[in-house]
Amino acid sequence: MNQLELPKQVRIVEVGPRDGLQNEKQYIHTSTRINLIHLLTDAGIKSVEVGSFVNPSWVPQMAGSDEVLRLLTRRDDVRYIALVPNLRGLEYALEAQANEVAIFAAASEAFSQKNINCSISESIERFVPIMSAAKAAGIPVRGYVSCALGCPYEGDIAPAKVAEVVARLLAMGCYEVSLGDTVGVGTPAAVIRMLKAVLEIAPVEKLAVHFHDTYGQALANVYAALQMGIAVVDSSIAGLGGCPYAKGAAGNLATEDLVYMLNGLGIEHGIDLPKLISAGEFICDKLSQKSGSKVALATTA
Ligand code: HMG
Ligand code: MG
Repeated sequence: MNQLELPKQVRIVEVGPRDGLQNEKQYIHTSTRINLIHLLTDAGIKSVEVGSFVNPSWVPQMAGSDEVLRLLTRRDDVRYIALVPNLRGLEYALEAQANEVAIFAAASEAFSQKNINCSISESIERFVPIMSAAKAAGIPVRGYVSCALGCPYEGDIAPAKVAEVVARLLAMGCYEVSLGDTVGVGTPAAVIRMLKAVLEIAPVEKLAVHFHDTYGQALANVYAALQMGIAVVDSSIAGLGGCPYAKGAAGNLATEDLVYMLNGLGIEHGIDLPKLISAGEFICDKLSQKSGSKVALATTA
């Protein structure tokens, strides 16, 4: 493996307004969520998760995602994505005119139960009507496999299990599957092992990575994934986030840090780093918290 094998271009999926804000304890006003999305798309983000249509008693911060979608000023070249766990969620997302939806499964039975209150197989069954309704509405569906590098309840997860769930999501019609290190425990060696198994059943063009940064490994893990041909990376502005059902999990890899690394590698991504850093400052200011992006801290010090 060498640098020549890195992709020339990477598509960044910004998950901060969903994965980032879902984990905040304080109430976040709809206008703040919308302003953040505007700043991100002004900076060049073309795929952004704007919220989720889940049970609000499970994830209170995502209540009002319909309002976010209705009130934001849209750009034609941006995909506004909503996370949906079931048909009901999809119906809300369609009503609010999401451009794309994401369904989320796990490679761990215990995490599946804690996060969506059903087994992996039951979740796949729940997704069947989502896929047909989304298809009828002409909406692309992205899939997630959580716990791809480890589970907060079960520990190590076999790469073959991850590959099995990816295969099921692709077979049901997801255009892409994002591999989530939900707890952020993976290292580059684990990424390579997991991707080798997944690449046996899936073309690299249909895969994305989604690494939380709990143990500070996310950027190194992305680099390992890039070396294996992955060209779609999820990240979160200011490194916000975590999953309320993965206790202790930190935020995703900060988008600012990802963009800085891609710049250094000469990989195209279409994002304006200073504008991105301003978007991060905006949300950190609103949340009264320090940025989780090392690049943001270094450049605004
Ligand atoms: P359940 O209790 O089994 O659902 O929860 P249910 O079908 O039995 O319905 C119970 C009640 O839930 C209903 O009551 C509804 O009020 C409500 P009734 O219909 O009798 O009035 N409900 C809903 N409300 C709003 N929108 C809906 C909806 N569905 C049911 N769509 C459920 C099952 C999936 C709903 C629940 O477990 C849930 O909402 N889980 C979401 C958890 C979540 O959002 N986790 C974070 C996102 S995943 C993540 O962060 C990981 C990721 O980033 C990747 C990674 O890092 O690995 C994607
Ligand atoms: Mg996540």
